[in-house]
Amino acid sequence: MSKKIVLITGTNSGFGWLTARNLATSGHQVYATMRDTKGKNAEKANTLSSVENITVLDVALTDDQSVKRAIDTILSREGVIDVLVNNAGYSMNGVTESFTTADVQSVFDVNFFAPWRLIKQVLPAMRRQADGLIINVTSGFGRISFPFATVYGASKFALEGLSEGLHFELKPLGVDVAILEPGAFPTEMSQKNNPGSDNSVLEGYGAIGDVAGKMMTAVGGLIQTHNPNPQEVADAIAKLIDSQKGKRPLRTVVDPITGEFIQAINQATKIQYEHGLKMFGMGELLA
Ligand SMILES: NC(=O)c1ccc[n+]([C@@H]2O[C@H](COP(=O)([O-])OP(=O)(O)OC[C@H]3O[C@@H](n4cnc5c(N)ncnc54)[C@H](OP(=O)(O)O)[C@@H]3O)[C@@H](O)[C@H]2O)c1
Repeated sequence: MSKKIVLITGTNSGFGWLTARNLATSGHQVYATMRDTKGKNAEKANTLSSVENITVLDVALTDDQSVKRAIDTILSREGVIDVLVNNAGYSMNGVTESFTTADVQSVFDVNFFAPWRLIKQVLPAMRRQADGLIINVTSGFGRISFPFATVYGASKFALEGLSEGLHFELKPLGVDVAILEPGAFPTEMSQKNNPGSDNSVLEGYGAIGDVAGKMMTAVGGLIQTHNPNPQEVADAIAKLIDSQKGKRPLRTVVDPITGEFIQAINQATKIQYEHGLKMFGMGELLA
């Protein structure tokens, strides 16, 4: 394993917390971002900062200037950023009509535009060094749109869409783009779910409106039965980082509960996608 300079977002809990520690323990130099390090995340920031090889950066992912400051700080200290892990995100599951435009914009701001802000800022340095890896954490819901998970899914579909084309666009320049698709894991995500601000429409849905709650209960039941370990996601990220440049898979599914049907979709898409690239005169990008 060669030591890498890694930037990862959303590190005060869940996959990000585990990944930052995992990578630092393996000897990588980790820049771990979180928001509000003087307020609600202060304890987490202090704990993570005390780990060898981890530097915590306070970054507002929804603010271009804050993201730029973080990238400039890392580049001035290290000269390079080898790996960007776009991990931060949150879910918005509930009756779709209950989401206001502001709700939808806010989830896209974190789940799609924040990764974009970071990608846009790290790419010049990665291109210059003709080396780099961008890992975007999406979801199985970035491949299939389930009822009541439509808006969260749409934000993850958007990130999938950006990542898929970019994978082939950047590979000839020495930069790998990889998508990590977790299934359901017991992190803090379900506690932070935003169910929609406009309750006025719920009455019109009658019993159908309750299906959203049934989905959350069913997922909770699956998690309880199968007890999937979030460390699996952290390990998969480490594996991608340590894999050979140019050989990293576009998509990695980490889902011990329902992963098979997402794998099947990915396999079918890959064949048709490669066919499409050739038809559109871009077959050379498959080399
Ligand atoms: N757990 C699952 O079942 C699952 C399944 C598929 C995909 N995922 C994806 O995995 C990624 C990590 O989620 P997790 O499961 O580890 O959940 P988590 O424990 O809730 O962690 C999410 C991280 O994202 C950060 N974040 C959320 N909104 C933010 C905002 N507005 N600004 C800055 N940071 C923000 C959180 O910080 P704050 O605490 O400050 O909000 C936290 O650090 C997400 O992209 C999620 O969509 C999770």
